[in-house]
Order: sequence, then structure tokens, then C-alpha cells
Amino acid sequence: MNDLDQLLQTAQADFAAAATPAELENAKAKFIGKSGCVTELMKGLAALSIAEKKTRGAAINVLKTGIEAALTARRQAMADAELAEQLKAEALDVSLPGRSRGTGGLHPITRAMERIEAIFGSMGFDVADGPEIENDWFNFTALNTPADHPARSMHDTFYVEGGHVLRTHTSPMQIRYAVQHVKRHQALIDAGQSMPEIRVIAPGRTYRVDSDATHSPMFHQVEGLWVGENISFKDLKSVYVNFMQQFFETTDMEIRFRPSYFPFTEPSAEIDMMFGSGPLKGRWLEVSGSGQVHPQVIRNMGLDPERYIGFAFGSGIDRLAMLRYGVNDLRLFFDGDLRFLAQFK
Ligand code: PHE
Repeated sequence: MNDLDQLLQTAQADFAAAATPAELENAKAKFIGKSGCVTELMKGLAALSIAEKKTRGAAINVLKTGIEAALTARRQAMADAELAEQLKAEALDVSLPGRSRGTGGLHPITRAMERIEAIFGSMGFDVADGPEIENDWFNFTALNTPADHPARSMHDTFYVEGGHVLRTHTSPMQIRYAVQHVKRHQALIDAGQSMPEIRVIAPGRTYRVDSDATHSPMFHQVEGLWVGENISFKDLKSVYVNFMQQFFETTDMEIRFRPSYFPFTEPSAEIDMMFGSGPLKGRWLEVSGSGQVHPQVIRNMGLDPERYIGFAFGSGIDRLAMLRYGVNDLRLFFDGDLRFLAQFK
């Protein structure tokens, strides 16, 4: 092996031994840098004859090309290794299940409420909202239930500080809404002209001391009120039957008005329904209280009961939602268990 072959081997070995690009560039300088071996060999040519210069010069060029090839190969190998390393570090496991954001959904009670609002909205009912902490006047007295009235014991009331109660029903909204309505149209009323009818529903939370599979201390009602100059029980019946048929999306049901008692309606009726098919077929289910608004309540609204008449109802939204969605335990609605709630998304 001549000195040039020897040099090529040394260069290849040094390049192979270089662990980093910086080390490789240092090794390169030793061989083909400005003052590297190849430059030194070229300088040595000066002392040779023309013929020797030719062969020796050609051999040095071959060496130089060889060193450059070795350098390029090593550079490429380093770059490949670096890329491979990087790819490994950034590897994605495409077999992992994706992390989804999980879309939320409306609570079944909210869905039932929105349904109720849409149906009554289509019949021209306004939707009103009011306080859950009520005073005695709106929750009881204005609804013809004075302090000594035995009907107060029909409700297991939550009393809170300051003589307030957690409203035991949505009926206080009858008074609240009507009083506002009357105020807005007081000029017409004073002039003896016809006031626009009161037609409203008021869905919301209600509270009673009661808790089992079909009763929750917090539950939901929707109050309905329609007062005008000629609104009768037959209007209540047609409005309510229409509502039930739309809510349950069937006409295969019976609805009956069973005589009952409420201090704020006279006459009063309990509304029961019975499905004509399905798992609940043939069972009467109570869904609402109702009746013709009591003259004293009309008076408390600021209206003349000789002129104004109407009906009211108060329905249990939770009960309606249970029937619509086939839920048999009311408490499921309020446990916050996602396994239950996710079924309504
Ligand atoms: N407020 C009554 C209840 O909670 C229901 C009702 C409302 C009855 C309106 C008649 C008229 O039981």
C-alpha cells in the first residue's frame, strides 16, 4: 500500500470516528483543508520532474476525490441518523384512540321545557319567568289562600328567612304576570275598553318538603294562564288536549278532567291522561291541576271578575318528561349521572 492509499484509509477511519458534525468538519480540515495533507502533497510536486508530476499529481487527485467522497458519505450518514432520531422522538402512535372533546347536551328537563315553550308559543302564549324565593302574598294569599286557610297544609312548604318561602308551585306567576299586564293596559281598562288577553305560561323550579322515587324536594312545574272576556273551560280543554297531543306526538291517548279542589280555581279539575298503547297503556296518570280562575284571584290581579274570566293550569314537567322519555325514577334527573344524562344528547 502506498502513502496515498494509506492516507485515504486514515481519512475514512477518522471520518467514521467523528461522532458529531463538528468533529467531522475538524477531521476534514486535517485532510483537505487549506493546510491539510492534500495541500502539503501538492506542494511536494514542485520538486518533481514533469513526468513524475503527471503521475503523482493524478494520484493525489484520485486521493482527494476519494477523501471528498468519504466525507460526503459520512455527512450523509450523520444527517440520516439525525433525521431517524428526530422521527423516532416525534413518533405518533396512530393506533391510540383519539381524544375527543365530548359534546355536551341539554338536560332532559330542559328539553321538555323547551318543547313545552315551543308548543304553547305556537298557540300564542307568552313565556314568563319569576322568582323561586317568593313572599307569602304571591305564593298563597293572592291565590285565595289566606294564612288560616286549611289548603296551606296541602303544601309542605320550605320556609326561609324573612317570612319568605321557596315557591311551592308556579301559580304565584299568575299574579305576578297578570299584575304587570294590567299595569301596562291600565289606561284601556280605566276607559272601560277591552284589555288584550292574558295568555302566558311560566315554567320553572318549585319546592316542597317531599322526597321519594316520584317526588323530589326541587321539581318543575309549568303554569298556564289565559284570561279574557270570554275564556271558558272548553278553551282549557281544547288547549290542554292540543298540548298533550303535540307533547307526546300522538293522538292515541285519553284525557279526562276529574273534579278536584284548589283555592285559586273554581271549579277545579285534576287532568289525567291515559296512553292508548305502549308500556303505560290503560293506566290513568295525573299530569296537571287546573280550573277556572277564582273571582277573588281575578280581583287580586286588578281586574273585574264580572268582566274577566279565564283558566289556569299547573302541570308537573318532571312527570311529563318521565312519561315522554320512559324514565321510572324521578331522582335520575337530579343525580347528575352522566351515564343517564348522555342518553339524551
Ligand atoms: N298550583 C297547583 C299545584 O301545584 C296546580 C294548579 C295550577 C291548579 C293552576 C289549578 C290551577 O298543585
